[in-house]
Amino acid sequence: MTHAHITSWLITILLFLIVVSLQRSGSSKAKIVQMVLRLFYIFTIITGVLLLHSIASISLLYVIKTIAGLWLIGAMEMVLISMKKGKSAKAAWTQWIIALALALFLGLSLPLGFDIF
Ligand code: HEM
Repeated sequence: MTHAHITSWLITILLFLIVVSLQRSGSSKAKIVQMVLRLFYIFTIITGVLLLHSIASISLLYVIKTIAGLWLIGAMEMVLISMKKGKSAKAAWTQWIIALALALFLGLSLPLGFDIF
C-alpha cells in the first residue's frame, strides 16, 4: 500500500504542476487536467486512509502526517483558485511548500515503507 500511496501523491504533484503551467498559458486543457488531478486527490486520501488502517495504534505523528497531507491538497486548490481569480497566489504557495516539506519529512520518518529520516 505504501507504493500505491507514493505513486498516487507523486502523480498528484506532477498533475498539479501541469495544471499550474496550463492555467498560466491560458490553455483550455487546464480544466480537464484539473478534473483528473481531483481524482488523484481522492486516490491519495484513500491510500493514506488504508495505510492508517494498517497501523495498530495511531500516534500523534501519524495525526500530524495526515493533517499535513490534507493541508497540501487544500493548498493546491488554493493556488489554483487564486490564479484563476487573478489574485496573488503567494500565501497559497507558501502553505504548499510548508505542507509539502512536512508531509514528505513525516512520511519518510514514520516506519512504514521507506524510513529515510
Ligand atoms: C499529496 C499529499 C501527500 C503526500 C505528498 C504524502 C507523502 C507521503 C510520504 C512521502 C510517505 C512515506 C512513504 C514511505 O515511507 O514509503 C507517506 C506515507 C503515509 N501517508 Fe501520506 N502523503 C500525502 C497524503 C496523505 C493523506 C491525505 C493521508 C491520510 C489520509 C496520508 C497518510 C499516510 C500514512 C498513514 C503513511 C504511512 C506513514 C509511515 O508509517 O511510513 N498521506 N505519505
